[in-house]
Amino acid sequence: MAKIVAGVCTSHVPAIGAALDLGKTEEPYWKRVFSGYERSKRWIEEVKPDVCIVVFNDHATAFSVDVVPTFALGCAEEFIPADEGWGPRPVPVVKGHPELAAHIAQSVILDEFDLTVVNKMDVDHGLTVPLSLMFGQPEEWPCKIIPLAVNVVLFPPPTGNRCFHLGEAIRKAVESFPEDLKVVVFGTGGMSHQISGPRAGLINSKFDKNFMDNFSDHPEKLTALRHVEYMREAGAEGIEMVMWLVARGALNKNVEEVYRFYTVPASNTAVGHLILENRPEKRAAKAKSAKAKSAKAKSAKTKSSARAKPAKASRTKKVLAVRGKAAPVKAKKAAKKAAKKAAKKARR
Ligand code: DHB
Ligand code: FE
Repeated sequence: MAKIVAGVCTSHVPAIGAALDLGKTEEPYWKRVFSGYERSKRWIEEVKPDVCIVVFNDHATAFSVDVVPTFALGCAEEFIPADEGWGPRPVPVVKGHPELAAHIAQSVILDEFDLTVVNKMDVDHGLTVPLSLMFGQPEEWPCKIIPLAVNVVLFPPPTGNRCFHLGEAIRKAVESFPEDLKVVVFGTGGMSHQISGPRAGLINSKFDKNFMDNFSDHPEKLTALRHVEYMREAGAEGIEMVMWLVARGALNKNVEEVYRFYTVPASNTAVGHLILENRPEKRAAKAKSAKAKSAKAKSAKTKSSARAKPAKASRTKKVLAVRGKAAPVKAKKAAKKAAKKAAKKARR
């Protein structure tokens, strides 16, 4: 069976790609950024995923403003690095996993998420920069990539809550794919930044750090954030952060943050980066032991049926009655019935 083992979240600043491609990684400004990914590169080399699902956004490269799908899943054999105005980045062609992608499309759409299936899509810095940060400059990318494009460029983008739930549906889809595959989900974009207008250059480290602090253990605090709060606090392009929540939704409730990096700035943007690994679900483990306990109790009961205790429901009722709670419930019901009767009479 395929299995999601971890999530990688990172900013995708285009200037990072340019710095790498132009050999500027040793310049102090860029060394500060790239040094934050040294451990991450070693980590992913050890994990060796078979497939990475990369949640990213297209910046009017593959999709013009004529057509902007909310969620578009790349189901093609390959995706060509896009020409963003200065020629395509000198990075390998991105190889897809059409079988797993088609399986995800089918599962997620039947779970009522209206994905767009995309069989041809050039990929811009939104996807290639995170790959470069995690894998460096290889001849070929070391695993298959399934791109999932999220609209965060044309209002209205999906909510963070919707993104989180889509992640959950993706996890269910992956876990029902019969082939043994190790899968890592990337959530990309962010952190706070605003590229144009009077607030251009806005960076809000307090907001970013709070987002990262809650990401592992309290994602519900983040899924509650509304667009206007991202806009106000993290700048117009800060809305890219909802893509991290797809990755979070695809992971277990119980995760361990194994790496964090944050630096300001890279170009106009705060660079944030987290690696979360799945850990066994605590509740699932508890439920398992409870199940085992109840099975044990059942078998004990059948062995000594003559001494069987009263059923749980009647015991509960008894306790309520002793505490004086059963009577008020009864009284309330009777009062409700009488009021209904009176209303009926009045209508007549
Ligand atoms: C910048 C950041 C982005 O996320 C982007 O898509 C384009 C530019 C920047 O910081 O310059
Ligand atoms: Fe961007």
